[in-house]
Amino acid sequence: MMNTESQAEQTSSKPNSHNAPNSAATEQEQRLRMKMGRIKNKIAVISGKGGVGKSTVTVNLAAAFALQGHTDKVGILDADIHGPCVPKMLGLKGQKLIGGPAGIIFPVTGQHGIKVVSMDFLLPNDEAPVIWRGPLKMRAIQQFLSDIMWGELDFLFIDLPPGTGDEPLSVMQLIPDIDGVIIVTIPSEVSQIVVKKAITFAKQLGVPVIGIIENMSGFICPECGAKLDIFKTGGGQKIATDLSVPYLGKIPIDPAICVDSDSGTPFVAGNKASPAAKAFAEIVMKIKQFLKDE
Ligand SMILES: Nc1ncnc2c1ncn2[C@@H]1O[C@H](COP(=O)(O)OP(=O)(O)OP(=O)(O)O)[C@@H](O)[C@H]1O
Ligand SMILES: [Mg+2]
Ligand SMILES: [Zn+2]
Repeated sequence: MMNTESQAEQTSSKPNSHNAPNSAATEQEQRLRMKMGRIKNKIAVISGKGGVGKSTVTVNLAAAFALQGHTDKVGILDADIHGPCVPKMLGLKGQKLIGGPAGIIFPVTGQHGIKVVSMDFLLPNDEAPVIWRGPLKMRAIQQFLSDIMWGELDFLFIDLPPGTGDEPLSVMQLIPDIDGVIIVTIPSEVSQIVVKKAITFAKQLGVPVIGIIENMSGFICPECGAKLDIFKTGGGQKIATDLSVPYLGKIPIDPAICVDSDSGTPFVAGNKASPAAKAFAEIVMKIKQFLKDE
């Protein structure tokens, strides 16, 4: 795939170039509407700061829903254009998007039938960066939504880069009936300050806040069982109260989460008895409740 803006500009004036730009846009909008209309629930995962566990949460929520009776009915759009890592976390590195007849493009299917679309499936190698400005990123996300054969899904989770930049803005504006956003934070005050911006962002765009997850909340020492609040604790609940948005729960630090994401297996699938997996299970219940009440 194209790696610089100039290359991309050249290759992206594809089949519809005989149409007026406006009708081409509406045609794509219609395709997007149709594709998204076949997906029952669409949920984006955002944060203020980076590295707080958005991708981890996305992958594990997708796996948890797939395991709870939605096998083959869950998708993940990895909308982190510059730092896609969902494929790595699901053991799908090196896979490519598959083209079918008549230019149809299918997602890559991973464990539990999770359908994944990521920039990573279009890059020639791990060293290749994507050097794109906002409008091109928006166009890429638009194409991921409108031109990929997602099929009939119960859930589409959208993993986003940190903050309130081009990618989250594109996703919120492009998906017509997005159900809401899940906001991931770590408990520290530094993270709390930034996460408030993410909540305001969602509110200003009229996208419901499904709730806040406090990740990396405490660590149980495997040697002596002591609980250490490495990044403090309770920050997620505090923001939820301060800004009147739902609180979904906290996930502790568990080294197995890191090991599993590096080895490409969703943590929740293999560690059901662990406190972190139980935390995920409670969060899943709250999300289901939110979607039911909507
Ligand atoms: N609760 C946890 N316990 C242990 N490790 C965790 C936990 N949550 C996330 N991690 C690890 O922390 C690292 C960062 O997580 P992740 O990539 O999901 O963050 P992110 O918010 O998506 O980052 P970015 O902002 O770069 O997209 C990963 O290596 C992941 O395995
Ligand atoms: Mg990420
Ligand atoms: Zn100890």
